[in-house]
Amino acid sequence: MRNKILFGNWKMNKTNAEALEFANGLSDLVELASSHNVVLGIAPSYLALETLKKHTSGIVIASQNVHYLDHGAYTGEISVPMLKEIGINASIIGHSERRTYDNETNEKCHLKIVRLLQENMIPLYCVGETLEQFENGLTKEVVEEQIRIGLNNLDSADVSKIIIAYEPVWSIGTGKNASVEIAREVISFIRNVVEDMYGLNVANSIHILYGGSVKPENIDSYLLNDDIDGALVGGASLTKESFSLLLKKII
Ligand code: PGA
Repeated sequence: MRNKILFGNWKMNKTNAEALEFANGLSDLVELASSHNVVLGIAPSYLALETLKKHTSGIVIASQNVHYLDHGAYTGEISVPMLKEIGINASIIGHSERRTYDNETNEKCHLKIVRLLQENMIPLYCVGETLEQFENGLTKEVVEEQIRIGLNNLDSADVSKIIIAYEPVWSIGTGKNASVEIAREVISFIRNVVEDMYGLNVANSIHILYGGSVKPENIDSYLLNDDIDGALVGGASLTKESFSLLLKKII
């Protein structure tokens, strides 16, 4: 049985002091999650990574992005060794906001996934179609390409360390969450693509989350489903109250 994962993506929110405020008093929640076999994760801004790492335990702290090279003339970027030095062992890759605003291609995502896996770190790889692609019936085609390129030619022993998040772009931050049926159908499809690439055992062990306007009011409908292993949550992960409600709804 795969355990459930509840992952918050803070995007460009919270100063260091606000992150510290969130971290204080989180231990009850972490304990509750672990007693129900739920893994908690948070991806804060780069500046708050070290703060959260130092002031929490039992929770995965991830960066929201990372470069695939270790150093060089890449203004504004951070690298895997920089994350490792402060104890960070996970990173979101290919979030749709980065694909849209920062030209994050499937090929770049692949290089980043490879680099993270070399260091035994966890890539949280986001895939999903735009509204136009959805309306033109291209969801599976788009998502399959994202998976086949992003996960191309990896060591199959490493693939099950990857967490995939299916986030339809039209549902992110819009309040228009995808129906449970759509989420389930696409997530099962992704699992089939992974099976085709790496076999049934890997497909059965990889975690696939849903993301896009997940809230305390709707999270249970997704996670009651065995095909959906958890949620990647933006807006509703920003307060401790809402984050803890999300957890309480799925345990
Ligand atoms: P949202 O964001 O929950 O605010 O829609 C989800 C995400 O971008 O991961």
